[in-house]
Amino acid sequence: MRSETSTAASGRIPAGGGGLLTSHPDVSPLTSPSHVLSPLTSHTVGEALAATTRLLEAAGLPEPRREAEELYSSLRRRPTSAAWLEREQLIAPSVAGDLEAAAARRAAGWPHAYAAGAACFRGHWLAVDRRVLIPRPETEGLVDVVREWVRAERDHHPTVIADACTGSGAIAVALALEPSEAAIRVIATDCSAEALEVARRNVEAWGLGPRVELRHGDLLEPLAGLRVDAVVCNPPYVAAGEWEGLEPGVRDFEPREALVSGADGLAATRALVLQAHAALRPGGLLALEVDARRGAESAAIAAAAGFESCTVLQDLFGRPRYLRARRSADGRD
Ligand SMILES: C[S@@+](CC[C@H](N)C(=O)[O-])C[C@H]1O[C@@H](n2cnc3c(N)ncnc32)[C@H](O)[C@@H]1O
Repeated sequence: MRSETSTAASGRIPAGGGGLLTSHPDVSPLTSPSHVLSPLTSHTVGEALAATTRLLEAAGLPEPRREAEELYSSLRRRPTSAAWLEREQLIAPSVAGDLEAAAARRAAGWPHAYAAGAACFRGHWLAVDRRVLIPRPETEGLVDVVREWVRAERDHHPTVIADACTGSGAIAVALALEPSEAAIRVIATDCSAEALEVARRNVEAWGLGPRVELRHGDLLEPLAGLRVDAVVCNPPYVAAGEWEGLEPGVRDFEPREALVSGADGLAATRALVLQAHAALRPGGLLALEVDARRGAESAAIAAAAGFESCTVLQDLFGRPRYLRARRSADGRD
């Protein structure tokens, strides 16, 4: 089952800063009828945080001060400690306005990352909005599965990786950005043109245009016959009947098509495994995030498609969450 997202973290920001808020209408700043801070007077960060805390407290949020600090640090793409360290600095009116708008969204129940328009994935700040799933901490471990394989495959350089269902581009950005033994190139796909707009923004913000190519379409079909070294994917894997039971922060805000995949939650996994077997070079890697309750079933699907060494690995919480499999080295089915 998909978890709710965590809130702000420390992390690296793109050279250009990545922008404070995305331009999508769903996340444009709210025009609040009464500002919590006068826009005509100078205020410190500390004063802005106090006002934000009062707003969040009035909305009934249980930890308003922490939430206010995390909204500020997410907006600034800084570690949470920035709120304390910068408390005596004057806050720019534009930042104060963004903070107020983000707090109003949070007070209205928006998940933290959508309220701030930013999420931190493996220490890299990404723009997010309601067109994409908020990257989850457990997906960070899926990137490690791929990176460990790249490290072990020293004789295959450079390495072309397909990131199917890229959403915000979190996995693709991390793979292309982090230092690696191989020169990694990523082809990232998504069936949502809107999601790809967000991914494009993140790829460009990190200066990864030459190394991450975005293609629109169903799973691996956009590869159009190209052979790749590895396929990584965090597919939708919630069963249709489980949708109603998701936490409201997930169900009411995140894109349904990013989460739900057929009656048993495995429709995308089944299709992807077949496509991956055709797209991978002999010996290539398949790395998939799976629902913790469907690891064994997902491994059986991969084995039935001809994959070898199908193994379900645990995430940082000790839950079986990653399927790792290998296309046979001699190209046999
Ligand atoms: C669970 S989200 C993963 C997003 C991102 N990779 C991450 O880990 O945060 C799934 C993504 O798959 C996309 N998607 C769903 N079905 C798809 C399909 N058949 N082909 C391509 N993309 C698909 C959705 O639009 C969504 O962006």
